[in-house]
Amino acid sequence: MSDETLSNLLKEDRRFEPPAELAANANVTAEAYDAAAADPEAFWAEQAGRLTWATPWDRVLNWDDPPFAKWFEGGRLNAAYNCVDRHVEAGRGDKVAFHFVGEPVDDTRDITYAELQDLVCQAANTLIDLGVQTGDRVAIYMPMIPEAVVAMLACARIGAPHTVVFGGFSSDALASRLEDCQAKVVVTADGGYRRGAPSALKPAVDEARVKAAGLGHTVEKVLVVRRTGQDLGADSWDDAVDVWWHESVDRASTEHAHEAFDAEHPLYVMYTSGTTGKPKGILHTTGGYLTGAAYTHWAVFDIKPDDVFWCTADIGWVTGHSYIVYGPLANGVTQVLYEGTPDSPEKGRWWQIIEQQGVTILYTAPTAIRSFMKQGREIPDRHDLSSLRLLGSVGEPINPEAYVWYRHVIGGDRTPVVDTWWQTETGQILISPLPGVTAGKPGSAMVPIPGISAAVVDEEGREVAKGGGGYLVLTKPWPAMLRTIWGDDERYKETYWARFEKLGYYFAGDGAKLDDDGDLWVLGRVDDVMNVSGHRLSTTEIESALVSHPKVAEAAVVGAQDEDTGQAVCAFVILRDEAGDGGADIVEELRAHVRKEIGPIAKPRQIMIVPELPKTRSGKIMRRLLRDVAENREVGDVTTLADSSVMDLISSGVSGGR
Ligand code: WTA
Repeated sequence: MSDETLSNLLKEDRRFEPPAELAANANVTAEAYDAAAADPEAFWAEQAGRLTWATPWDRVLNWDDPPFAKWFEGGRLNAAYNCVDRHVEAGRGDKVAFHFVGEPVDDTRDITYAELQDLVCQAANTLIDLGVQTGDRVAIYMPMIPEAVVAMLACARIGAPHTVVFGGFSSDALASRLEDCQAKVVVTADGGYRRGAPSALKPAVDEARVKAAGLGHTVEKVLVVRRTGQDLGADSWDDAVDVWWHESVDRASTEHAHEAFDAEHPLYVMYTSGTTGKPKGILHTTGGYLTGAAYTHWAVFDIKPDDVFWCTADIGWVTGHSYIVYGPLANGVTQVLYEGTPDSPEKGRWWQIIEQQGVTILYTAPTAIRSFMKQGREIPDRHDLSSLRLLGSVGEPINPEAYVWYRHVIGGDRTPVVDTWWQTETGQILISPLPGVTAGKPGSAMVPIPGISAAVVDEEGREVAKGGGGYLVLTKPWPAMLRTIWGDDERYKETYWARFEKLGYYFAGDGAKLDDDGDLWVLGRVDDVMNVSGHRLSTTEIESALVSHPKVAEAAVVGAQDEDTGQAVCAFVILRDEAGDGGADIVEELRAHVRKEIGPIAKPRQIMIVPELPKTRSGKIMRRLLRDVAENREVGDVTTLADSSVMDLISSGVSGGR
C-alpha cells in the first residue's frame, strides 16, 4: 500500500456507533476489556467454562518452556461431544445444526443436532473399522457437504487429528500433505458440483495416493461419499483401498461411547503457505483451541439462541474450521452450509439464500464484497435482507469503501460490521470490533479483543507511538495459538518467535499502523506471503512450481495490487537457453503448469518472460522493483542492484505480457 493511500485511510473519519438495542443486549460490554487485562489467565479460565470437561484442568497456562504452550493442563475433554452430544443431552436435539444448501438449486437438507450426533457416531465407528486409532492422521478432501463436517467431528471424537485439504488443491499438493503428516486414511467424494456441473475429486485422490507412495508413504484406505454419482471410470476403484460411505457409514451403529482426551491432544493440522516452498502444517490442540473458537464466536458475533449464522468460507481453510465447525457448534447455533459459488446459477444466489434461510449473521471476505459491489446494488436490492443484524469480514484488509457498501447495501445501515483479524496460526479471532461496544471505523480492525495482548513495534521491538507503523506482534500467549509446526519444532521457533526472541513476542508477519486514537490498521504481509482473494500463497512455492517446468531457468513471483482480488500473482520468468522464445503459447503453458502443481488459485494473473532478474550483489532478488513493474509504476531506487541496467531491460521487454 502506498504512503498516500495510507494517509488517506488514516484520515477516515466515518464512525458507526453500535445500534442501541444491540448494545443494550450485547453478550460483551466494555467492562470485559479491563477485567480480562487485569488477569488474562483467569479470564480464559472463565471462558473455558463454556465447555464441558470430563476432568478439570490443574493449571490454566503452562508457559515454562516458551514458545511451547500448554493450556488447561491436566484437563480432559472430547471436542465432538462438546460440539454435538451435549446439546442433545440438554434437550436441544431438535434444533437445526445445519441448513445445508447444495449447489443444485432445491438440493437442500436440514440436519438437527440429534441427527448430527448419529452421523458423527456412525462415521467414528467406520473410521475405527478402517483401522484408524487415536493419534492417527486422517486427511479430508471434500466439497462443502455435510459429510465433510461429519468426517471432521468423527476424527475429533476418536482423537485422530484431521487435516482438511482444500478441494481446489491439485493432486500434487494433496500428496505432499498426505506424506508430510503421514495420513492413514483419506475421506473424499466422487466429486462436487461447480457452477451446475459435477466436478470430479476422487481421481485426484488416486493420483495423490500414487505420488505419496512415490514419496514412501502408503495411504491405507479411502472413504468415498457418493455426491454426484458421476462415472469415475473403471480404473478409479481399488477394492483393497476404496470404501463407499453409503456402504459403510450409513450401515454403522449410531452408538459410540466417546472418550475424553488430554487438553493438549492434537485436534488438527492445517497446512498453510509460509515463506519457503514447503507448506507448514499448523498444529492445533483441543482444550485451548475450542475455548478460543467458542468464546470469540460468541463474543464477536454476539451469538443469541435464535441466530442463523452463515460463514461463507470453505472448510478447507481455517475460517471454516473455527467458524463453521468448532466455534459455532460448540455454541450450539443454527448455521447455513452452502456448497456452491456466489454467482451460480445466478448472481443473486447468496441474497436468495439469506432471504430463504433467514440468516441473521453473515461472515465473508472483502474479495467477495468487492465483486458484489462491481455487479451493482440492483442484485441484492431484489431480496429481503432484513433478517441480517450483523456482518463480518475476514481474510484481508477491507477497504473503507467496501466496508461502507457492505454495511449500507447488505446491512441496510442497521448492522455493525466486524472486521476480524486473525490467522491460521492464531486459531481464533484476535483483533476485532465488538458489535455492542465499538464505534466501527471503516478499514480498521480496531483493538485486540478482551484477553488478547497485541502491539505494533519497530525493528527493535519497541512499541510505536500513535500515528506510527511497524510490525504486528502478540505479546502474550492465547488459548487457540498454534502449538508447533507438524514435525518441525525448529521451524516453529524460527518462523514466529526468533524475530523478537528476547521479548518473547509472536511475530505475525503482518505490517500495521496505529492511528491517532490508537486503533489498529492491518496493512498486509511484510514477508514473501501473498494474499489473493483472502487465500494465502507463498511466492517461493509458486516460484518452485515455475522452475519445475523444463523450459524455465529462473522465476520470481510478486503479489501486485489488484482491484478485485486484493493482490494478484505476477511472475517474471527467465527461460532456459535451449527453450528459445518458449513458443507462442509459453505464457498459457506456464500458467497451466502452476495450476497443475498447486491449484487454480495459484495460477499467475500475469507472466512476463524477461532476460534477467534484478538482484542485489549478494544475489537476493529485489521483489520491490518487480512489484513496481507489475503495478505499472516508475521503478524505484536501483542503486543496490548488482547491475543497475537490468531494470531497463525488464521494463522495456514486458509491455503487454499478460
Ligand atoms: C490477512 C485467515 C487484514 C493477514 C483467517 C493475515 C487480514 C493473513 C485480516 C492470515 C483482516 C486476515 N484484516 N488482514 N481482518 N484477516 N488477514 O492464515 O495478512 O488464511 O496474516 O487466516 O490474512 O491468513 P490465513
